[in-house]
Amino acid sequence: MNVSWIFFFTFLLLIHTVLLQSVLVGESVILPCTLEQNLQEVYWKDKDNGVVCDILDGKADFNEQDPAYKDRVTIFPSETKNGNFSIMLRNVKESDAGPYTCSAPNRKIVKLELTVKVSQTTPGNGESPRRADGLLTFLLGCALLYTLTF
Ligand SMILES: *[C@@H]1O[C@H](CO)[C@@H](O)[C@H](O)[C@H]1NC(C)=O
Repeated sequence: MNVSWIFFFTFLLLIHTVLLQSVLVGESVILPCTLEQNLQEVYWKDKDNGVVCDILDGKADFNEQDPAYKDRVTIFPSETKNGNFSIMLRNVKESDAGPYTCSAPNRKIVKLELTVKVSQTTPGNGESPRRADGLLTFLLGCALLYTLTF
């Protein structure tokens, strides 16, 4: 078993467990999470362990929700029976950036990293494809660096 195999498996593990999601400030983003079907309790938490959304019996429950996410989170009720516990976060703020987890008791934890970009384009100007390419390269670079250092 040589070193490159270890890197290869580390990389596989990372792309399997950490998903990068990127969004512009003010836009909406879907945070994907697929678990088993018919789970009774699924919890979405942020980096400070604050509750983003609870999904109980396939329905959103906002009783424990951190006020920071009030009225900004919706789930996809018709998808939960298929094990799709993805949520939509609207009106994204810079403070929303960071890691999120989606988990159910005694099940694997789905981890996700949200990157929030502040638009640098002037009003009326669309974002150029070139910049999008640059960003993708940057994100891939980060992912690679992350793989190599941890
Ligand atoms: C889960 O549902 C969302 C919203 O309908 C959809 O965008 C996403 O593709 C679904 N994910 C899977 C794995 O089916």
